[in-house]
Amino acid sequence: MIVKNVIKKVGLLTSGGDSPGMNAAIRSVVRACVFHKIIPFGISKGYDGLISGKIAEMNARSVKGIINKGGTILKTARSADFRSKEGRDKAYDTLKNNEIDALVVIGGDGTFTGGLVFSKEFDFPVIGIPASIDNDIFGTDFSIGYNTALETIVESVDKIRDTANSHNRLFFIEVMGRKSGNLALNASLASGACFVILPEKDFQLIDLIKRLEENKKRNKESSIVIVAEGNNYGPSYKIAEDLSKVYSAYESKVTILGHIQRGGKPCSFDRILASQLGMAALESLKLKKYNSLVGLVNNTL
Ligand code: F6P
Repeated sequence: MIVKNVIKKVGLLTSGGDSPGMNAAIRSVVRACVFHKIIPFGISKGYDGLISGKIAEMNARSVKGIINKGGTILKTARSADFRSKEGRDKAYDTLKNNEIDALVVIGGDGTFTGGLVFSKEFDFPVIGIPASIDNDIFGTDFSIGYNTALETIVESVDKIRDTANSHNRLFFIEVMGRKSGNLALNASLASGACFVILPEKDFQLIDLIKRLEENKKRNKESSIVIVAEGNNYGPSYKIAEDLSKVYSAYESKVTILGHIQRGGKPCSFDRILASQLGMAALESLKLKKYNSLVGLVNNTL
């Protein structure tokens, strides 16, 4: 890899689904750049912005007042164009024209796949910061945003439980996470759900019926089932409908939490993680440890 001895300019982008704490990570990267006398450049709308040249110099004040804000001030996108060589050529031109020496990408698995292809193709230094509510990224125990999303889910389930109890109903609550059951599993533990349906474990209706039967015998009048969106059986509406055809002891309702799980102010854990990972990304660049991801494993950065 052709690596300049001194890194003077670093590009920064957020890509893929936004997650709470991305702003705290942007803030940390920008301020760590300033600390190391490197000029940070913000790229708008992820890899799409890199392709179309939406790039601007940032400074310590560009990131004021954002540590507590959800979403991403740099905006984000899932770029189709970056999958093509033509798109990546244009992205490289933007970096070359602005004399950028390295790129920090904040996002999830799609972001890193793109970053890796790009770094190999152009021999260009890229560092990844894991941010995704799904917590499905290898190399870190937690991705930025996961803990905030978990809190949002648990708070919502607590609220639904109030109405479930009042009506003696069964609620299927569907949560995000793609093919990862992290959010579903931990939300079910934290909210005291009676059953959880995960992508990692094949689900059969009969298992749920058995559990509901046991609950009935113990005079349990309402129940909460957490459904991971990526489970093998299907959407929660299908599960509820199929159940109603063979088991009618409970009236059931479905709630899909949806994008509410991605918004809101980041919790302290995510703000701290984002601040630490932003700093670690710059330290990795200084140590010439490129084409890797900064993460937290066993409480060590
Ligand atoms: O990867 C984050 C995530 O929120 C997943 O949990 C979910 O399946 C997906 O993004 C939704 O993507 P979009 O916002 O593009 O519909």
